[in-house]
Amino acid sequence: MKKLWIGTSWKMNKDSDSAQAWASAVLPRIEKLHPQLQPFVIPPFPYISSVSSAFDASVMKVGAQNMCWQEEGAFTGEVSPLMVKDCGGSVVEMGHSERRAQFGETDETVNMKVHAALRHGLTPLVCVGDSGKEKRWGVSREAVIKQVKIALYEVPDHQIPQVIIAYEPIWAIGESGIPATPQEAESMHFAIRRALRELYGADLADAMTLLYGGSVNLDNASNLLDQPNIDGVFVGRTAWNASGYVQLLEIANSKFSS
Ligand code: 13P
Repeated sequence: MKKLWIGTSWKMNKDSDSAQAWASAVLPRIEKLHPQLQPFVIPPFPYISSVSSAFDASVMKVGAQNMCWQEEGAFTGEVSPLMVKDCGGSVVEMGHSERRAQFGETDETVNMKVHAALRHGLTPLVCVGDSGKEKRWGVSREAVIKQVKIALYEVPDHQIPQVIIAYEPIWAIGESGIPATPQEAESMHFAIRRALRELYGADLADAMTLLYGGSVNLDNASNLLDQPNIDGVFVGRTAWNASGYVQLLEIANSKFSS
């Protein structure tokens, strides 16, 4: 059966002490989770090593928030897939709307990063999302499916199970974000699943993990996780303190206890 992924990106937050404190506080809870839960954390680059060594990699996956598509060379300021692995990372986030809006990430570079991650056995976590304007114009589905299709361009069937897609509506992310309702999120996830079925067939598409992100909190997480096409949540603010993250894990864990 598919795992339920519960994870957080710290974005550009924390220092070494608070990173360690988060890991130490989460560690005891992680050891007793239902095996169908897949926790993950994506710290800033400088803390990937210390956070990954705090956890058993078979339980908690640790990732990077970005990565270059090249292995090595004259790419000042970039971090290669080999370096991510060397530091204990196994997941690579790409295409987050903050990177698309402020750092020039495009559908094409996301696609290059997907292929680079797959070449190195890393899990690409591809973020896609519609803007507030696209939502108003009624073109959210087209916008999101286009991002999905370009991200997956020339990804062969045998590699597709390794790819994770996170639907993160731009209008839902951050302080001024309004969380998607579970129905809104499910409807987009259903559309993404349908597009994946067209590309890869029902079996592979249904086995893929689709996460929702954007103002997930302790009140809406349970309903979001109940949606048939939502296979987990990707959380910012609510999970930046260990207790918020642990409470999200408890909510997810309770899905398996009844
Ligand atoms: P928030 O949960 O803070 O809205 O951030 C979501 C996000 O961007 C996760 O990648």
